[in-house]
Amino acid sequence: MSSDARDPNAPKKPLTALDFYAQAARRKEDAAKDVTADDTQTQASSELYELEFNNLSDAEKATWYKLARRDKIRYKKEMATYEPPVDSSSGCRLLLMGRFFPFDSEGIPFADTTLTIKETQNSCHIGEDGGTGLNVWDGAQLLLRYIEKVPNIVKNKRVIELGSGCGIVGVAAAICGCKEVIMTDLAYALPLMRENVDINRVAWKDTDVVVSCKECDWFQPPPVDELLGHYDSKADVLLVADCVWLSSLIAPLLRTLKLYTTESTDVFITYQQRGKEAHDLFMEGIHNLFDVVDVDTLKEADLAKPDVFHLLHCKRKVS
Ligand SMILES: C[S@@+](CC[C@H](N)C(=O)[O-])C[C@H]1O[C@@H](n2cnc3c(N)ncnc32)[C@H](O)[C@@H]1O
Repeated sequence: MSSDARDPNAPKKPLTALDFYAQAARRKEDAAKDVTADDTQTQASSELYELEFNNLSDAEKATWYKLARRDKIRYKKEMATYEPPVDSSSGCRLLLMGRFFPFDSEGIPFADTTLTIKETQNSCHIGEDGGTGLNVWDGAQLLLRYIEKVPNIVKNKRVIELGSGCGIVGVAAAICGCKEVIMTDLAYALPLMRENVDINRVAWKDTDVVVSCKECDWFQPPPVDELLGHYDSKADVLLVADCVWLSSLIAPLLRTLKLYTTESTDVFITYQQRGKEAHDLFMEGIHNLFDVVDVDTLKEADLAKPDVFHLLHCKRKVS
């Protein structure tokens, strides 16, 4: 099955107020057509429904917004227990459920510049994870936008990123003036990540920002001094985007988080809740090790996101 095939049993995306309005209007039209049996009548276009909807009074719209709110809750509940199926040919979980954040590889507006981030076909045959680092995930786009809104989380900081994939988050940290960013992933992901760093390097070329891409497998993470290349150093910030989905990767990921953090490290983790088992395992593990705040991005950074996306700010518990 192709990597962006949708699971037919996946929870249906929530409908908007306009969707509900258009659905009802279509049903009404169909019923009228049945009565008149006039085949020459065609259905109104989506644009027309949108126009009609926009012209409704607030009181009239309220019915449709109520339905949309209910559907959002339905979706959230279904997603909390949903386990993506395993692809029988490769044994890996099918993950790509479509993007929430629009993505245009060649023109991603960020701060006062435009990023180009290349992707390649997700092969679904690279190790247990399926080579997911060859695409940009929603979690990375959420972290990218958070960094854009709150650049101080990385400014002048030494940053390690885990599971960087195509490298969009690390590139954002560099543009926002971090001291150093070490982007990491499995070996297969490094060539594309490096290419993306090179494409965007012009955006920080006149600064002292140091950017590197290194191998770090959560099952055998290199010691922090080896990763950073200095003995006296530690990371100020750890970034992790969309790396919580396979239950088998949760324990090694948590061990790596522990290895690379001290009580002063700020850890920012974004992820999309995809399955109950991995979510519960991760939540238990992360709460054992860290004090965790599920950031209200709308309130704190004027950044809207669906409820199934989380942005966690974590600090190691004081022992
Ligand atoms: C869903 S992708 C997210 C990529 C990127 N952060 C983003 O959001 O676009 C998960 C990432 O975890 C990496 N990964 C999977 N297993 C890993 C492991 N054992 N050690 C290190 N990274 C791993 C993948 O290579 C991939 O880049």
